[in-house]
Amino acid sequence: MKLSQFIADDQQTKAQILALIELAKTIKNCPNDFASVLQGKSVAMIFEKPSLRTHVSFDIGIAKLGGHALYLGQQNGKLVERERVSDYAKNLSCYADVIVARVFEHSAIQGLAEHASVPVVNALCDLYHPCQGLADFVTIAEHFDDLSAVKLAYFGDGNNVSNSLMLLAATLGVDFTLVCPEGHGPEQSVYHQAQQIAKASGSKLVLTSDVSAIGEQDVLYTDTWVSMGDDTKVEDILASFKPLQVNHYLVAATGAKIVMHCQPAHLEEEITTALFDDTTYSVVFQQAENRMWAQYAVLTSLFEK
Ligand code: NVA
Repeated sequence: MKLSQFIADDQQTKAQILALIELAKTIKNCPNDFASVLQGKSVAMIFEKPSLRTHVSFDIGIAKLGGHALYLGQQNGKLVERERVSDYAKNLSCYADVIVARVFEHSAIQGLAEHASVPVVNALCDLYHPCQGLADFVTIAEHFDDLSAVKLAYFGDGNNVSNSLMLLAATLGVDFTLVCPEGHGPEQSVYHQAQQIAKASGSKLVLTSDVSAIGEQDVLYTDTWVSMGDDTKVEDILASFKPLQVNHYLVAATGAKIVMHCQPAHLEEEITTALFDDTTYSVVFQQAENRMWAQYAVLTSLFEK
């Protein structure tokens, strides 16, 4: 399956997402078969925000596929404050074969994709974190044979990570419950879009602030209560978010089999240290590892003949 770009979770069909998940698992099984996929290719990686897993998994992953990754940190702030996004895109297209970008605003990803003559991969923006979402479904698929029977619940801030999970779940037919405090729900346009997709796929999509009413779940997921670029003070939201903390009580109440977190984790805020470290449930490092395999699948698909 050939991809021309990878910038948002509403742009891939169910068949394409399933193919990417399968390809990631195949590459994970026999990485040597893919060792020259990026031979002679260079990837320019723009980072407007900090990164550990994304930066390292792309950098090392690209090297292992035979390519060359160039890190372009943006210590001076947003892309648009230095040059037009269109000029970044056109300049980088002169040298690079792929542009990977972590940006503040999704419009910057769209601008890069519009003006670059090479594929663009979204490495996180305000609306989506598609590489994380794909890696997470690789992880879920490693634990559950039938994805369509999985019940996934996300607790916390309606953000880029929950948007990606929600759109992917809706597309794949996975039941998805989003538990957010009042006023911290998902971007309305993304929620409406996910509702439409869920209607078509038959997946059940629930948005609630009532943690006691969510019933049985297979997978519990959480992320930071305050994302990068959000200047909300944790002290100001603590009282409304604390009931949504993912902990052993929630695992027992829902009967969940696995617990996920994209990291970095704010221990004792969105998740307890005890649960984060409890490898009976916590699959956080499997998720982190799968970032690389999922991104291999994306990069490989960009260059499929
Ligand atoms: N929602 C988080 C994800 C970090 C990987 C953020 O945007 O900061």
